Amino acid sequence: MIVKKNMGRAKSALMLIMALGFFFATYNLLSMIMHNKESNSGSWVADGLELFDPVLRMPGRVIGSAESNSKFHVALTATDAAYSQWQCRIMYYWYKKVKDMPGSDMGKFTRILHSGREDQLMDEIPTFVVDPLPEGLDRGYIVLNRPWAFVQWLEKATIEEEYILMAEPDHLFLRPLPNLAYGTKPAGYPFFYIKPAENKKIIRKFYPEEKGPVTDVDPIGNSPVIIHKSLLEDIAPTWVNVSLRMKDDPETDKAFGWVLEMYAYAVASALHNVRHILRKDFMLQPPWDLDTEKKFILHYTYGCDYNLKGELTYGKIGEWRFDKRSYLMGPPPKNLSLPPPGVPESVVRLVKMVNEATANIPKWETLNRS
Ligand SMILES: *[C@@H]1O[C@H](CO)[C@@H](O)[C@H](O)[C@H]1NC(C)=O
Ligand SMILES: *[C@@H]1O[C@H](CO)[C@@H](O)[C@H](O)[C@H]1NC(C)=O
Repeated sequence: MIVKKNMGRAKSALMLIMALGFFFATYNLLSMIMHNKESNSGSWVADGLELFDPVLRMPGRVIGSAESNSKFHVALTATDAAYSQWQCRIMYYWYKKVKDMPGSDMGKFTRILHSGREDQLMDEIPTFVVDPLPEGLDRGYIVLNRPWAFVQWLEKATIEEEYILMAEPDHLFLRPLPNLAYGTKPAGYPFFYIKPAENKKIIRKFYPEEKGPVTDVDPIGNSPVIIHKSLLEDIAPTWVNVSLRMKDDPETDKAFGWVLEMYAYAVASALHNVRHILRKDFMLQPPWDLDTEKKFILHYTYGCDYNLKGELTYGKIGEWRFDKRSYLMGPPPKNLSLPPPGVPESVVRLVKMVNEATANIPKWETLNRS
């Protein structure tokens, strides 16, 4: 399935924005979001009322209503860079593999491509093209495009499922994923390095005292999160606003660095009084987490370096290694060598999953851009 972009009004508004300076651009982008929000308010109210439907929901299932739909749409934000493409291909392979297994609440899949144009994977992966932020607004911090991508996709796409999973290219589904949200309470993964309480002074710039204690801000990013669609429609524009203002504030930019956009989601959801169920089993991160047992998503964001005795040499290039950053310009080759004996199961599983995907995805070597 190919979903072609249908930009029209939003696109011409953005082109106008691009003709104005940075400051003006931010202002206009945000007011456009506000405007779109208001013009949709009819259906938002209806969605809001549905949220209070007294249906008893258990994690992963809905009891007492035949109409309720606990399925979630898998939404993967991505760019058309070779580095993003090969990860998306592997990610989609594992989605297809587990999606229909017992226990899954996984619905359809969309790669939200925020490069503003189609790429050569349109026929392989269901894709919805959205625009990047107006030039210069992301200041080279590409992931600032994510919240804006979600705003555009939620506004323009037809999404059947009631819930959304926000996913990333370096996520691998280890097993069928149930809906971990509980009614209107979304589920997120607690990251050890997101510490709102330890960054009180900065959080307070964006989460004023009258809103509540800084501990209201969950130690999460936007991904992985499973959330009711109408809540995300509420939060996403605020998330754009907060992330741009955080990036614009030198002290915040310096303190939060590459995790700024994660804090921006955490703060934006708190501003909407949304608290997440924190699920440690949502995800695991090799090499720190040693086994995949009872976990749902494997996140290969860290390099895995080992010597031939199977000892972790983190931070030092290992005699054996797997690091996604080794493949910035193109895909990893098929049949990567397995780690030496003694390496944790999580790392062995990662390499096996990558190998299985690359062995089975048609045109693995040839369809990538390089
Ligand atoms: C962005 O956030 C600030 C602070 O909460 C608020 O004053 C402003 O109205 C917001 N702008 C838009 C367009 O959402
Ligand atoms: C993969 O590589 C191993 C050596 O590391 C080799 O023994 C095996 O035959 C290869 N498999 C395929 C399918 O190429």
